[in-house]
Amino acid sequence: MYTSRNGGNVSKKLLKMIVNGRAVEIACAPNQTLAVALRDELNLTGTKIGCDMGTCGCCTVEVNGKARLSCLTLAHEVEGASITTIEGLNQYQMHPLQRAFAECGGSQCGFCTAGFVMKSHALLAENPNPSREQLKEELAGNLCRCTGFIKIYDAVERAASELREKAPTSPAPVAAR
Ligand code: FES
Ligand code: FES
Repeated sequence: MYTSRNGGNVSKKLLKMIVNGRAVEIACAPNQTLAVALRDELNLTGTKIGCDMGTCGCCTVEVNGKARLSCLTLAHEVEGASITTIEGLNQYQMHPLQRAFAECGGSQCGFCTAGFVMKSHALLAENPNPSREQLKEELAGNLCRCTGFIKIYDAVERAASELREKAPTSPAPVAAR
């Protein structure tokens, strides 16, 4: 049982979803956000809750490959979906985005970093070579109080370049005989 804001008891429902490639079942109240479910039920505390009202981007995760604010998403809305959190990016080694944030000074206190990395990860999947202007526009919903943003843009550009170099190239066309 879960106590709602007006004091009544609300039943939790067992929700199935894929989190970081693993099938999970989470017991959630109807008003439980995805951010709280990830942190409290699965102990995935890399996802941060800053404003809890959709204005800072700290809680960004990917839902079916698209960046989404988990503080504005009810866990019930994503039943059956595939969720990726910051923990899902470095299961074997640091993701190039994480390494670039560290190397470029794009992370200081780190509270905003998971949100920036997840938003950038979704962005680079759609646009592997964004211009600085596109980066600024796409990351405008994520706030950082420490870095001044320039080092964050530098980090995303460095990671984008590394990821482009590592991307499998399509085979050369077979020459006509
Ligand atoms: S905590 Fe979700 S946008 Fe700020
Ligand atoms: S590194 Fe501190 S808020 Fe961004």
